[in-house]
Amino acid sequence: SKLSFDYSAAKKFISPTEVEMMKKAVQMAKEQLISGMGPGSDYLGWIDLPINYDKDEFNKIQKAAEKIKADSDVLLVIGIGGSYLGARAAIEFLRHSFYNSVSKEIRKTPEIYFVGNNISSTYMNHLRDVIGDRDFSINVISKSGTTTEPAIAFRIFKKLLIDKYGKEEAAKRIYATTDKSKGALKNLATSEGYESFVVPDDIGGRFSVLTAVGLLPIAVSGADIAKLMEGAASMRKHCLEAPYEENDSLLYAAIRNILLKKGKTIEILVNYEPSLHYVSEWWKQLYGESEGKDQKGIYPASVDFTTDLHSMGQFIQDGQRTLFETIVNIENSSSEIIIEEEEVDLDGLNYLAGKSVDFINKSAMKGTLLAHTDGNVPNLLVNLPMQNEYYLGQLFYFFEFACGISGYLLGVNPFDQPGVESYKRNMFALLGKPGYETQREELLKRLEG
Ligand code: PA5
Repeated sequence: SKLSFDYSAAKKFISPTEVEMMKKAVQMAKEQLISGMGPGSDYLGWIDLPINYDKDEFNKIQKAAEKIKADSDVLLVIGIGGSYLGARAAIEFLRHSFYNSVSKEIRKTPEIYFVGNNISSTYMNHLRDVIGDRDFSINVISKSGTTTEPAIAFRIFKKLLIDKYGKEEAAKRIYATTDKSKGALKNLATSEGYESFVVPDDIGGRFSVLTAVGLLPIAVSGADIAKLMEGAASMRKHCLEAPYEENDSLLYAAIRNILLKKGKTIEILVNYEPSLHYVSEWWKQLYGESEGKDQKGIYPASVDFTTDLHSMGQFIQDGQRTLFETIVNIENSSSEIIIEEEEVDLDGLNYLAGKSVDFINKSAMKGTLLAHTDGNVPNLLVNLPMQNEYYLGQLFYFFEFACGISGYLLGVNPFDQPGVESYKRNMFALLGKPGYETQREELLKRLEG
């Protein structure tokens, strides 16, 4: 069995003719993507990654993960954007819901904390409290090796590591995932002798979860990274070989673009399992950064249901009609609870006795899907048979492939992110970074009003 995309609930909004009429454009986008003739073609390494990844590097990752598991109570993963969201999504999806808080006997692997994805001194000081005097290691991840947020966190936590273990031992507890030859982090790794892992040149940050960027932290969490790659490889085959009419990824790209043309400018990724929260964060970056350019794109948003039915549900049901929803549905829940009968039915729940909590969750999902459809919010479904490494590998690849197709359908380069630089320039100027003197004057004047 495999992941499947189902848009049958949205038939009211999309006719079979419209889907058929998208076929040519989608096939051309696919051709552009796999032939490397489209814009951004220097960044297509993720397409074949599941079948031709570097096996030596893969073994090195597993070895490093074993060492970290053996000598650390805590692993700090330092990175931002594409350099952390995939790992966080995978660990939260695959491992215990309370991974860091549950007992070591249940977790069996180091606690894992993400830092360097904000510039909060409170967050970093609190993280120091969490580490306490326990053994820890650092995986610092930055493709460019020059991103400010992770660089600052690395400077701070490297100091903590050196104070605890001395320079030489600390260097053995630092794992650097970065470019193979350039950037400040690579230079640091070479001069200090950190073990290094490579972010391939032809894979951009948000497409890098199946490289060392994601794989090392995921392996430390105890998840099976070989199964993850297997799942991705099976979805790659499907994406490349299945005809349009049966191709889940191509149809997803087609349908969301049909909806966009009808004014559905916001896509909400929906889940009914809290462990999918960071999968949605990863997805938002993937689509937001790939498509949001040249004044175009679908705005990617996300909600966690049923939680957010009690906060955002009203808007989705009845607010401005620019939304569509894509539900990531776990078909078979990994764990079960049955509602028991009580002698006196004071809470009025005896009608549910003998039913599973997941049955109730699925009923909430089906009821909500129909209600939102009635409220003119098209609902699409991405069904995952189970919550495991294999299907997560499929899910990652499904969304990546559809993103490449969708970007080309939209007429943008899905593989660059020029807009991310604007805030950086201003921040550097305000901080007084050498080389930004003129901008600094201008910005200070503007801030003074
Ligand atoms: O997808 C992207 O390219 C970005 O989100 C990057 O991953 C992010 O900005 C971090 O960059 P780097 O890995 O160079 O520190």
